[in-house]
Amino acid sequence: MVVFTSEELQTKFELPQLVKVPAHVAIIMDGNGRWAKQRGLPRSEGHRQGTENLRRIIRAAVEFGVQIMTIYAFSTENWSRPRREVRLLMRILEMVIDRELRELREEGVQIRHIGELQGIEPRLARKVVDACHYTRDNNRLILNVAFNYGGRDEIVHAVQNIVRDGIAAERITEQTISDYIYTSDLPDPDLIIRTSGEFRLSNFLIWQGAYSEIYTTPTYWPDFDRHHFHAALLEYGRRQRRFGKTDEQIESEFGASVDRYS
Ligand code: FPP
Repeated sequence: MVVFTSEELQTKFELPQLVKVPAHVAIIMDGNGRWAKQRGLPRSEGHRQGTENLRRIIRAAVEFGVQIMTIYAFSTENWSRPRREVRLLMRILEMVIDRELRELREEGVQIRHIGELQGIEPRLARKVVDACHYTRDNNRLILNVAFNYGGRDEIVHAVQNIVRDGIAAERITEQTISDYIYTSDLPDPDLIIRTSGEFRLSNFLIWQGAYSEIYTTPTYWPDFDRHHFHAALLEYGRRQRRFGKTDEQIESEFGASVDRYS
C-alpha cells in the first residue's frame, strides 16, 4: 500500500486526496460492444476505443501509485465469440505490443502475461514472451495481461502441476495452490473493478479474489476515465476489509484503517 504525504497529493492531483491506494487493482474491462452499439458503430470500434482507454488507465494507475494492475483482455470463454471478433482481439494485442511497448518500458511498466499461451498463434505468443522479457527489469507498475485466461483453468493447471511435482495430498494447503497459480509471487488483488454495470467475476481471478473488494460501475469501459478510476480508489479507501474478523478485532490489531499489505 502506498500512502502519499498530503503535500505530494496536493501537487500530484487536482482530484480529491487518496489516503489509501490499493497495491493491486484488477479490472474487468466490460462494455466495449454496448458502447459501440449505443453509437451505431461496429463492435470493432468499441474495442478500438477500449484499447485507447486502456492506455490512459495504465498511465493513471502509475500516477495514482498503484503497484500492480491485472487486466482481463481475453478469457478462455471468449473463443466462442464470432471468429472475426476473436481475430480482432488477437490483432489488438499484437498492435498494442508493436505500438506501445517502447513507451511502456520507458514509463517503468513491467508486462506479464497470465493465462495459456498454448492455443494462441505462435507468432503472437512469441511477441508476448518477448514483451515480458523486454520489460522484466521495470518495477513502477506490474501489468498482468490476462489473455486466454480462465480462473478455473488456472486452478486446474495448478493442481496438475502439484500432482506432477509429487506433492502428497496431506501436504497440500491453500498456500500450495497460491504457490502454483500464475500470480504466485504477487499479493492478491485488493480491488476488482468491473465496468458496464455487471456484477459477476466471470471466471476472473476466482482464487485470488476471495477477499478482494469489488467495485462496479454502469460506465462502459471506453468511457471509464481517470476520474472514474479515481472514484473507485476513493471508494476503496472508505471500505474496511475484515478478512473474516470482527470490526473490534481489526481495530484492536491494526488501528481503524488497515490493509493486509500496509
Ligand atoms: C468486453 O467488452 C471486452 C473484451 C472482451 C475485450 C477487452 C479488450 C480491450 C479493452 C482492449 C485491450 C485489449 C488487449 C488485448 C490489450 P464486450 O465486448 O464484452 O462488451 P459488451 O459486453 O458490451 O458486448
